[in-house]
Amino acid sequence: MGYGSGELIIRSYNAQNDRVRVEGLESICEVGPADKPFLFTDTLGDPICRIKNSPIYNMLVAELGGQLVGVIQGTIKLVTLHKPPKNVAKVGYILGLRVAPAYRRHGIGSRLVTKLEEWFVACDVDYTYMATEKDNEASYKLFVNKLGYVKFRTPAILVNPVNHHRSSQISSNFKLTKLKIEEAESLYRKYLSSTEFFPIDIGNILRNKLSLGTWVSYPKGETWGKVPTSWAMLSVWNSGELFKLRLGNVPISCFMYTKSSQLIQKFLPCFKLPSIPDFFNPFGFYFIYGVYGEGPLYGKLVKSLCNFVHNMASSRPKDCKVIVTEIGGNDTRSKLHIPHRKSMSCSEDLWCIKSLKNEDRKSVHKLTTVPPTRALFVDPREV
Ligand SMILES: CC(C)(COP(=O)(O)OP(=O)(O)OC[C@H]1O[C@@H](n2cnc3c(N)ncnc32)[C@H](O)[C@@H]1OP(=O)(O)O)[C@@H](O)C(=O)NCCC(=O)NCCS
Repeated sequence: MGYGSGELIIRSYNAQNDRVRVEGLESICEVGPADKPFLFTDTLGDPICRIKNSPIYNMLVAELGGQLVGVIQGTIKLVTLHKPPKNVAKVGYILGLRVAPAYRRHGIGSRLVTKLEEWFVACDVDYTYMATEKDNEASYKLFVNKLGYVKFRTPAILVNPVNHHRSSQISSNFKLTKLKIEEAESLYRKYLSSTEFFPIDIGNILRNKLSLGTWVSYPKGETWGKVPTSWAMLSVWNSGELFKLRLGNVPISCFMYTKSSQLIQKFLPCFKLPSIPDFFNPFGFYFIYGVYGEGPLYGKLVKSLCNFVHNMASSRPKDCKVIVTEIGGNDTRSKLHIPHRKSMSCSEDLWCIKSLKNEDRKSVHKLTTVPPTRALFVDPREV
């Protein structure tokens, strides 16, 4: 494909030369359909912030006639995946694909993905996967129609705005305990290690400074030492330390409603108008991962834990405006009890997968046809 203004060069990201230009590119690239509200990412001066907590990572840039016109990022790790005999696979995750609007539909996006796949192959990766909103037509067509990815899973992204003026209720019938990192790691290995995409290096996630902790909840009167009759667990990751989000392309009516609801809350707090936080200025968020539990009270226990996380967010940084939880698409029990605002949530995020090894081509078909396990592990490092 000819590019008019010269040869397309795809090379590794160089912080010194590319940092400002990559941030500039990010700020002009909307993700998703142009007629819908979308989120801009502000990487706070460090474009590789979204991948640098992963064990192995890479960022490629596309240059045309001296202009930086595209970017892509990738990470590699070992996860649980149906791949007999060991059920462990090396997976490459693709994220942050952006092509400058003026240079789209010239094959640059495809070239970036192909180059990243070459790096994955050199690193002996079994499968590569990516996540996209299901109505991001450009992304879906590029990966599925053009590059041979197949639809794999559809997790739900649940978004709950943080109310900095009001605490959420926590049932006095339940006990909430923060686990030590070693306790959390053994809990994960005991109950979640067979979950799809469970990262083998879970210890690194739990020890990362962005991990705020792992909490469990169980009925009062029971002890954690002896597995309680019902229990729930979750961990929290402070994504806002790494990067901020900002809403763009919002209908003016929504903007006015947000502003007026905030003013009313501020000056007439007795009005019960639900306050929508200001998403037009950069904001941070907490990411809840590792949601799991057992027993008849699981739903109430998980709700209590989520309310606890809400209160932690509302009493801490003012810029933590939402709490995001991503769970397996068929984990209806958790979905029912995790507090979230439907209008801000996405019931079907789309994960697509592709095998990079010939012998695994058939197993990818099997992976996509095997019903998913209830829980799906969403790595907070890949948010
Ligand atoms: C998605 C994106 C990276 C595509 O980059 P690009 O350089 O235009 O992609 P390509 O030219 O390689 O397109 C390859 C194929 O993808 C499909 N495609 C790309 N853009 C499309 C669009 N807007 N509508 C429909 N199909 C599209 C087409 O099948 C295209 O092949 P064709 O041009 O031969 O028909 C670019 O639109 C972008 O930066 N979007 C905003 C950020 C984003 O959504 N990133 C994806 C997050 S996962």
